[in-house]
Amino acid sequence: MTTKRHTFKQFISLVIALMVVFFAVSVASANGGPHNGVDVGTPDCASCHRINSASGTQSLLVQDTTTLCMSCHGTGLGANTNVADGMYMAGGDDYRYNEGLANTPDGAPLLGGGFVSYKGKPVTSAHDVVDGSSMAWGNGVARGASASLAQSMSCTSCHDPHGSSNYRMLRETINGKPVSVEQVDEGAAKDYDTENWGAGVDSLCAACHDSYNVTSAGSGSDIAMVSSGGYTHRVGMSFSDGSNVNPETIGFEGYTLPLAQSGNGDLVACMTCHLPHGTSATTGDGRDTNLIRMDNSGVCQVCHQL
Ligand code: HEC
Ligand code: HEC
Ligand code: HEC
Ligand code: HEC
Ligand code: HEC
Ligand code: HEC
Repeated sequence: MTTKRHTFKQFISLVIALMVVFFAVSVASANGGPHNGVDVGTPDCASCHRINSASGTQSLLVQDTTTLCMSCHGTGLGANTNVADGMYMAGGDDYRYNEGLANTPDGAPLLGGGFVSYKGKPVTSAHDVVDGSSMAWGNGVARGASASLAQSMSCTSCHDPHGSSNYRMLRETINGKPVSVEQVDEGAAKDYDTENWGAGVDSLCAACHDSYNVTSAGSGSDIAMVSSGGYTHRVGMSFSDGSNVNPETIGFEGYTLPLAQSGNGDLVACMTCHLPHGTSATTGDGRDTNLIRMDNSGVCQVCHQL
């Protein structure tokens, strides 16, 4: 970490950058909360930055990144979306940051999952944003192998706190790779219990796990797959494609799996099976739950209803 190594020059250029952004940004995005850009008279920048009393490790932040995000998105006041418990809390907003509407019912499970608990049960696997691990499976290496990322994980590995053109403020560049996730129109109010991701959603996961992003037909049985880590489940196709003999996305244990809304037939994506934050699913035999949505990898039976 570079805490103590901020030079005076870096400090001045950040102050200037803050001022430039302050005067330049006038168009508010529809992201909600303090992520809106500048509304003069609201504490938008100051809710995360201090010019003279910053104690975070970089960018004059009030706290280290994940701690900062959790100060509002945890169980306390600040935001309705409590990502610690993966739950929408209708009374969670602080009036100062309360901008925009949402039509999500109190207590609804959030779409990303949880980092501490989810659906009232402790999380069994989650992306590690707390102590920031950085060894990612398939990051420039074959599936099943892992390699180090340039930066360790935090909330801002995936989200841009200043807003972006992507769904849910996902970064436009992650791990040096372009990420583009289409936002399906949610209407005037935010909807935190219906997936509204569209084309490109797999570019998020592929930015760090590129070799898992296999879109060729028959990749579960094509011998050519062996050299890149073995047979693997295809993504990016319709759920009823080719060798899925009796396809459904609803039904098994009452579950409906989300697909990437693409206009002409929705597509299977990484997040059809995985949650991006964390899952509380369990396996009978103590295997790693790998961010999978359902107990015992039950996602398979939802689509392959044999
Ligand atoms: C929700 C918290 C939050 C708010 C609100 C916020 N920032 Fe930031 N800002 C961050 C974080 C976190 C970083 C560290 C870089 C990163 O991880 O993306 C950062 C970094 C920066 C940087 C360093 C360059 C960069 O983009 O990394 C500047 C300049 C900046 N912010 C200006 C602003 C201004 C001006 C405002 C008000 C319009 C503002 N920020 C509002 C969280 C916030
Ligand atoms: C000062 C309080 C505050 C801080 C700090 C904060 N947020 Fe938020 N954030 C909000 C509020 C309020 C919303 C609007 C939705 C809600 O009420 O939960 C929001 C919304 C979001 C959304 C959803 C955007 C959308 O399109 O609907 C994301 C993603 C997000 N924040 C990420 C972050 C990250 C990452 C950080 C840390 C860098 C952070 N937030 C820090 C208050 C905060
Ligand atoms: C691996 C990438 C990734 C990381 C790391 C990550 N998020 Fe997210 N986040 C997502 C995605 C993808 C969604 C959209 C989920 C959906 O709509 O299905 C999301 C959704 C959200 C939302 C909207 C509510 C919801 O659950 O849908 C908030 C708020 C949010 N993230 C905040 C955070 C905070 C705070 C952190 C750090 C503690 C964090 N995220 C870390 C990818 C990530
Ligand atoms: C910024 C890089 C980054 C992005 C983007 C990212 N991951 Fe990860 N992922 C990691 C790292 C690092 C680990 C290993 C450490 C950890 O669990 O955080 C990991 C671990 C995992 C694991 C294994 C978890 C376990 O229990 O061992 C799965 C599954 C996974 N990621 C799926 C996804 C999916 C699906 C997406 C897209 C929604 C995604 N990842 C996006 C970096 C990333
Ligand atoms: C969202 C729907 C969906 C889910 C969930 C799903 N599958 Fe599939 N599966 C498909 C489709 C569509 C195909 C055909 C893909 C192709 O063209 O290669 C397929 C193909 C397969 C194949 C045949 C591959 C080949 O090339 O012969 C196997 C085996 C398989 N899936 C196993 C699983 C397992 C195990 C799981 C749970 C981890 C699972 N599937 C979850 C839709 C799904
Ligand atoms: C059809 C369901 C399904 C889809 C779609 C899917 N996964 Fe997985 N994934 C699993 C299951 C089940 C596991 C648990 C280990 C296993 O069976 O291979 C897993 C494991 C993982 C792991 C942990 C390391 C490992 O190999 O065990 C990573 C990383 C991962 N998936 C990333 C991705 C990414 C990135 C995508 C999209 C490009 C994706 N997955 C799409 C079901 C799926």
